[in-house]
Amino acid sequence: MASSSSNILVTGGAGYIGSHTVLQLLNAGFMVSVVDNLDNSSEIAIKRVTELAGAKGKNLTFHKIDLRDKKALDGVFSSTKFDAVIHFAGLKAVGESVEKPLLYYNNNLIGSITLLEVMGAHGCKKLVFSSSATVYGWPKEVPCTEEFPLSAANPYGRTKLIIEEMCRDIYVSDCSWKIILLRYFNPVGAHPSGYIGEDPRGTPNNLMPYIQQVAVGRRPALTVYGTDYKTKDGTGVRDYIHVLDLADGHIVALQKLFKDSNIGCEAYNLGTGKGTSVLEMVAAFEKASGKKIPLVMAGRRPGDAEVVYASTAKAEKGLNWKAKYGIDDMCRDQWNWASKNPYGYGSPESDK
Ligand code: NAD
Ligand code: UD1
Repeated sequence: MASSSSNILVTGGAGYIGSHTVLQLLNAGFMVSVVDNLDNSSEIAIKRVTELAGAKGKNLTFHKIDLRDKKALDGVFSSTKFDAVIHFAGLKAVGESVEKPLLYYNNNLIGSITLLEVMGAHGCKKLVFSSSATVYGWPKEVPCTEEFPLSAANPYGRTKLIIEEMCRDIYVSDCSWKIILLRYFNPVGAHPSGYIGEDPRGTPNNLMPYIQQVAVGRRPALTVYGTDYKTKDGTGVRDYIHVLDLADGHIVALQKLFKDSNIGCEAYNLGTGKGTSVLEMVAAFEKASGKKIPLVMAGRRPGDAEVVYASTAKAEKGLNWKAKYGIDDMCRDQWNWASKNPYGYGSPESDK
């Protein structure tokens, strides 16, 4: 069973989902070490998490290390005996992965292999891995259950699929490993304090960060990709989930690793089970922010699926976890973060 003295290593803990999860871990009484190379994040996020955690902030240690630096990672494992690892670190931009596949294979696969080797060498065999709904490819039906056939639509998705397969193989080779693969749907929102949130570098690829940048005046309009889908209003439908619900999903997964003896290597969806269209999301954000989001209607984005949402039954039963927040909460918290930090952790100068 996890205790307040449990030491958790969080890779990619300075990033969007990682920083929210680290905060919830600290609040729950865990000792947390973060390994992040800050390639797609800022050390300011770590500082703010420490502040938000109050007295428990002292239980957070940060190491600016690239996961592929085996010697440095081994040093971290030598200095602290970790009870479990949550592995977020990876590159995640789908378009970039199509342009630079080797960058993605190198970073995501070698990073994960190095981590798993070092974990094994130090006898740390409990892992929660950030997978993605992308492993369902273009689902033929919805809701997506964990038993759906797996496929990859791009190099990013393929790295997730390969890492999942590696985890399954590792468990087959050594059944003392306990691994939970969490397949996230579409994480949005921010901590209600408005002190931490998503801060993508460059032009955002995903819907909510783009809407947010339109709302604060950094971009003129949102391009709506596809208005002829067979959906309620013709636009794409996704399963948006509040990042705090997602963070809590990691805590319950971790508790399960400590509590249950028969984990094996098991995948769970983290979604709400509800589908929301692009236009519904825009309307909810306009209501939350009081800002008008100008729209430019365009053709479909290559590679996009029509409707994707999760079956939540397995996570409800196996993890005893269910998302609490709805679309209005997500938009309220996203706007709170955006209005307080229109340039994320940066400044108008860093935007140029
Ligand atoms: P993020 O980019 O904000 O966080 C990832 C962090 O990993 C960053 O801080 C980055 O600097 C770090 N990192 C990357 N490569 C590294 C390396 N080699 N060594 C050390 N640190 C490294 O992304 P996020 O949205 O927080 O996503 C976290 C994880 O969840 C990723 O694995 C992502 O693929 C997965 N995921 C994200 C989404 C989403 O929509 N955000 C959906 C499904 C799955
Ligand atoms: C994207 C990734 C997917 C990843 C997921 C969660 C692609 C092709 N897929 O999926 O691998 O797992 O994010 O991180 O990038 N939209 C607009 N205008 C925009 C941006 C998006 O209309 O400027 C629409 C899209 O067409 C889609 C919906 O909004 O219908 C959601 O898009 P997005 O946030 O990019 O998420 P996914 O498409 O689910």
